[in-house]
Amino acid sequence: MQIFSKKLFSLILLFSISNLFSQLPSPYKNGEVVSANMLASQVGVEVLKKGGNAVDAAVAVGFALAVTYPSAGNLGGGGFMVIHLADGKETTIDYREKAPMNSNRNMYLDGEGNYIPELSNSGVTSVGVPGSVAGLLYALEKYGTLSLAEILEPAIKLAEEGFILDYHTARSFSYNLQDFSMYKSSMNVFSKGGRPYEEGDRFFQPNLAWTLKQLKEKGRDGFYKGKTAELFVDQIQKNGGYITFNDLEVYKPIEREPIKGSYRGYKIISMGPPSSGGVCLIQLLNILENYSFAKEEWGSSSYIHKLVEAMKYVYADRSKHLGDPDFYKVPVNSLLSKEYAKEIFKKIKNTATPSSEISPSDKISFLESNETTHYSVYDSYGNAVSTTTTINSSYGNKIVVDGAGFLMNNEMDDFSSKPGEPNIYGLIGGEANAIEPGKRMLSSMAPTIILKEGKPYLILGSPGGSTIITVVLQVVLNCLDFGMNIKKAIDMPRIHHQWLPDSIDYEPFALTQDVKDNLIKLGHKLGRETDLGRVEGIMIDDKNLIWGETDPRGYGGVSGY
Ligand code: GLY
Repeated sequence: MQIFSKKLFSLILLFSISNLFSQLPSPYKNGEVVSANMLASQVGVEVLKKGGNAVDAAVAVGFALAVTYPSAGNLGGGGFMVIHLADGKETTIDYREKAPMNSNRNMYLDGEGNYIPELSNSGVTSVGVPGSVAGLLYALEKYGTLSLAEILEPAIKLAEEGFILDYHTARSFSYNLQDFSMYKSSMNVFSKGGRPYEEGDRFFQPNLAWTLKQLKEKGRDGFYKGKTAELFVDQIQKNGGYITFNDLEVYKPIEREPIKGSYRGYKIISMGPPSSGGVCLIQLLNILENYSFAKEEWGSSSYIHKLVEAMKYVYADRSKHLGDPDFYKVPVNSLLSKEYAKEIFKKIKNTATPSSEISPSDKISFLESNETTHYSVYDSYGNAVSTTTTINSSYGNKIVVDGAGFLMNNEMDDFSSKPGEPNIYGLIGGEANAIEPGKRMLSSMAPTIILKEGKPYLILGSPGGSTIITVVLQVVLNCLDFGMNIKKAIDMPRIHHQWLPDSIDYEPFALTQDVKDNLIKLGHKLGRETDLGRVEGIMIDDKNLIWGETDPRGYGGVSGY
């Protein structure tokens, strides 16, 4: 009897565990927001419920994340927004940071021409001219329907009245306390008088609330001019940084044509240069379209081999050909042509080609961080918004602007400070991404919308620096080739290869020992075992049900109605 109940108990347990992993949360019917923070997702859904559209919600979520998810949500950084409107209009807004006007290509080199990484990735010398505020306001004015005051109100409230810290946010603050301790203004925000915050504490940000109110009263001038600009520029200049009042005053977001492609009948819309995200994603899909994955076993060595080989060619091209299109002629059409993809496909052998034998194509005519964040929005009108934003490293350069309460970015590290020299992500860049005054640094952010028969089907993106592209790629393949639902597609383990270093990074459980052995036999090298990306995705099915998944690697939230 006892044995029987034990067996029964184990069976029930096994059944509930497998159910837990395969269970899809209920879909929403009207609108949905998926972001790295539940409070911010809820802000977006409240905006949708009020009748706001997906752009209104996306802008409100952007400001809310600056309050509730300060490791990557920001006022002091930049980002990219990809928009598909129900009337068929498709556009993107580029609010990437820029190099200050008094920057120069050798600014991070010593007298002997050696690269000094600390100058480009920490301290006030690492700060790019912020674009987030200008970009969000531009999106709201041009494509939103609600007033700036209505959009900012929830973020102001969260900053002013505070919010209860969850376990992960409190832990993240205390984990970074040593870095914050180098700056009094940062300790004032991220510690309780020097002591770490704990789960359950209420976290107030009065200075950030003040800055948000400046924005509410004065629009972009509340950030790029006046007192806020003074606090920001003075702190930078006093400490030897480059940004001036003029840099802030002349900063403008740019509306750009999306990068478009197709994959097995689906339409792909993504972000173009100065992000490499869209170009590389579509280039990868174009190459992989030449295979039929119908009979391929997901996760097999044969499947991983094909992904990895395609990744090597695409990241090699990235290193040479991608940069700010306003400064460098990026050969987008050549890179995205299906013929070019076929040429690469033909070069892919059944064994690994060493990266040293792959060089960026000469016929046609890298550098990023983990702590970017993505959010996806879909509304009841059929509009879709996919946004990725960043201050580069986790909490940017860790310096809070004294009196204004927002963190500075360290985005200058995304330039190739010395062509050929790897950055903090091991990415190599070339002339296309060399520092020039007023230029935007290359990004890998890949906010993406995929359409099925003209209607949004997938809205997704990820943080992860150089890994963003391969992470988004694998979720797309999981859905489009392997028929996975959005939860499974995001949850499944992933791999990454970026040409250099010539090794495959992989998540726990991504590669079984057999698969590892087979890959090594094919000539591949294995790299780090590590988490890759944090996708926030939405899938809209044929019945118009809206399914969402926040990556289990993070602690975000799906909210809808
Ligand atoms: N800083 C991360 C990126 O722009 O890709």
